[in-house]
Amino acid sequence: MPIETTPNIWFNGSLIPWEKANIHVMSHVIHYGSSIFEGIRCYTQPTGAGVFRLPEHMQRMLDSAKIYRMPLPYTLDQLNQAVIEVVEANGVAPCYIRPIAIRGYGEIGVNPKGCPIDVYIANFPWGKYVAGHDGADVCVSSWNRLAPNTMPTLAKAGANYMNSQLIRMEAEANGYVEGIGLDVNGLLSEGSGENLFLVRNGVLYTTPLANSVLSGITRDSILTLARHFGIPVVEQALPREMLYICDEAFFTGTAAEVSHLRSVDRIQIGDGKKGPITKMLADEYFGIVNGTRPDRYNWLTPVKVASNA
Ligand SMILES: Cc1ncc(COP(=O)(O)O)c(C=O)c1O
Repeated sequence: MPIETTPNIWFNGSLIPWEKANIHVMSHVIHYGSSIFEGIRCYTQPTGAGVFRLPEHMQRMLDSAKIYRMPLPYTLDQLNQAVIEVVEANGVAPCYIRPIAIRGYGEIGVNPKGCPIDVYIANFPWGKYVAGHDGADVCVSSWNRLAPNTMPTLAKAGANYMNSQLIRMEAEANGYVEGIGLDVNGLLSEGSGENLFLVRNGVLYTTPLANSVLSGITRDSILTLARHFGIPVVEQALPREMLYICDEAFFTGTAAEVSHLRSVDRIQIGDGKKGPITKMLADEYFGIVNGTRPDRYNWLTPVKVASNA
């Protein structure tokens, strides 16, 4: 799906035209993958538009930068304001927001310290990410997720997504919409761009941060909603075969939102339909972001944009 462009991109403190947001081929990021980024959604509600969990996303961006010794010259509040500024200037909602910090043009050595840190924020319309309204048919990937103490998975770094690309391309080449990575010990980790949830006997399971997953903001939201509904929640290491014997399974992510899985490795999950716990959580999530249910946790940051949904 080609990117639908918008007029402006926020670059180091000012708005510049979309087509001027270019970098040199010798920039450090191109050679060594030295970027950290975020993916955020802005939704529309009957009364306006709101960015979902903006401070949590920008805090994760600061955390990613800290892990990579990449000091961003902006505070959390400045980054939040920058997102609001570009979304309002472009006047597009609903939309997907992509803040990114890169190591730019300077030196060619692997050590990035002589290369500038440039921050960009773009936003643009973007629809459904995991295909399959009736449930996604997914597989377990032959590729493992990143091994502990190699590429830190709590950092949302551009380079991590080489692993995600391998998982996703293999899945699609074999006729699935997405792949689930196992960690290096063969335990469940996550999808190429989504966290993983399973339901068995009324208990909601998700893989813990130590199994090479990104600390998803949607994952955290679903855990919060599950606790609100009194659903027992267990974060623990899970064997692959739990996928085959669970009653329900779903992915969460900013792009994927809450996407239920119909089968894994051609084995049907439950009766193949969206299960009751998935439905309860998805309905609440979509109700909050679309403004039909109360935003009990103040997850939406209002932006002044007319809906073009
Ligand atoms: C590898 C990976 N895991 C999980 C997620 C879900 O994270 P979030 O809910 O913060 O979008 C994403 C998406 O950003 C991802 O790329």
